[in-house]
Amino acid sequence: MNNQPIGVLDSGVGGLSIWQEIVKQMPRESTIYIADSKNCPYGSRAPHEIFPLAKRIVQFLLEKKVKVIVVACNTISVCALKELRGEYKTVPIVGIVPVIKTAAIKTKNKYIGIFSTVTTAKSGYEKELIKTFTSGCKVTNIGTEKLVPFIERGDIDSEEVKKVIKIVTKPFVKNNIDVIALGCSHFPFLAKPMQEILGKNVLILDSARAVGRHVGRVLTKNNMLTSRNKAQHQFFTTGNANKFEKVAEKLIGDTIRGNVIYVRL
Ligand code: DGL
Repeated sequence: MNNQPIGVLDSGVGGLSIWQEIVKQMPRESTIYIADSKNCPYGSRAPHEIFPLAKRIVQFLLEKKVKVIVVACNTISVCALKELRGEYKTVPIVGIVPVIKTAAIKTKNKYIGIFSTVTTAKSGYEKELIKTFTSGCKVTNIGTEKLVPFIERGDIDSEEVKKVIKIVTKPFVKNNIDVIALGCSHFPFLAKPMQEILGKNVLILDSARAVGRHVGRVLTKNNMLTSRNKAQHQFFTTGNANKFEKVAEKLIGDTIRGNVIYVRL
């Protein structure tokens, strides 16, 4: 048993898509969420910039005595997870679980799309994934830096954001891709307009549930599940706390109200 909170980190509000699933699957667990909003977006930064930024937020969570750290950001997971695990060995560090295996099973056209940040797309992540699957699927990874700023503003439904989604996802349509794996924790918040734009025959998959299940397995394996009945949730941001709270409320509802604290890192 371990009654310390689960630590969740992201560059901004995107990781709340994963936080939400963790809380849904493990309602008794307390959590601490940290968003490095000041340095967001991470997804257009060079890979060597990601590790030093991620270290600061990992250290913050360790100071808060979390029992596990969930890296709810694909960009950090693909660029810095190995180094973070090498540097911090006191708690398990869980990264994003790509849903590519499910995508490979579900595609009828044998052509999968990955939709991510530019840095994730450039990381070679896609090539690695292709190597691990033998089903003969082709993969196209579109990386964009255009959408995260919309989500960070809480704009997930305007005509403007829909226009941008339409433009950036064109290669998916052109290649007749029927399954898209979201490779950025922000993008599940755009799943609805994406589905409208791409049509109902395209399956959009995100990692949140898989990450939640994985965290559950890690806690069980390490005998770290809580014995408490009442969960507490705290949210920290390196940016403007009011703005974060307002946007997060739009994305995940009012559980967050009054619980966001600014932190200078
Ligand atoms: N949410 C992050 C991810 O999953 C990146 C967003 C950003 O560009 O900061 O990749």
